Amino acid sequence: MAKERRYLIAGNWKMNGQKKDGRALAKGVAKSLKKAKGKKKLPFELLVCPPFTLLSLVADELKGSGVALGAQDCHTAEKGAHTGDIAPQMLENIGCKYVIVGHSERRADHGEKDADVKAKAEAAIAAGLTAIVCIGETLAQRDKGQTLAVNRRQLKGSLPEGATAKTTVIAYEPVWAIGTGRTATPEQAQEVHALIRAELVKALGETEGNKVRILYGGSMNPKNAKELLAQPDVDGGLIGGASLKAEDFWAVAEGCM
Ligand code: PGA
Repeated sequence: MAKERRYLIAGNWKMNGQKKDGRALAKGVAKSLKKAKGKKKLPFELLVCPPFTLLSLVADELKGSGVALGAQDCHTAEKGAHTGDIAPQMLENIGCKYVIVGHSERRADHGEKDADVKAKAEAAIAAGLTAIVCIGETLAQRDKGQTLAVNRRQLKGSLPEGATAKTTVIAYEPVWAIGTGRTATPEQAQEVHALIRAELVKALGETEGNKVRILYGGSMNPKNAKELLAQPDVDGGLIGGASLKAEDFWAVAEGCM
């Protein structure tokens, strides 16, 4: 049964790819979409998030393809003395529509806290981008029975002010499932997605809260995608490893159909 919310299938390429890899992968993704598009209206939107160095090249490659472009992080300021950082306005300027903020690898490697993530999401939205706000518990937190409390706290702390379904996407990514091959079961994913949905409805109201897309991320692959995507509050995926091969990424997207 088709869902009211259109699925978002997002590839997070992380720190991977030389120019030739980026070009080939973008081409492959665009080609799969082109082949399928003629047949019927697809129930999903495709997005790729390459590293900063490949954004321009991938933007050129994807022109007119219908595959959206996103980045993996941004700064909160529009410009200025921030060596090594990238402003959301710069991302918008080269054709990005989305930016991931608060990925657990940024939280762990760069000490990003909920307040930083919220500020980044707000800056991204002000620049005309849609923010993909990531949250998720660690294995230790899950084992202590803190899963729902941690996700509730992170969502409340990271949700941008005035979020709408157009400007904001939430990604639930249990840290223990990222890059480990250990996926949350569809029931585990739905349990947290239902909590996120309830919190969104509380914060944004019934209509808007029900429209916001909630993605699952963590070892999603062609084998497990369909079952996860069938859950009532799983509105897409944030895919790492399996997004680095065009065929696998496409096979995950086919799980929406
Ligand atoms: P994975 O990464 O699919 O390789 O587990 C997902 C993510 O971190 O976004």
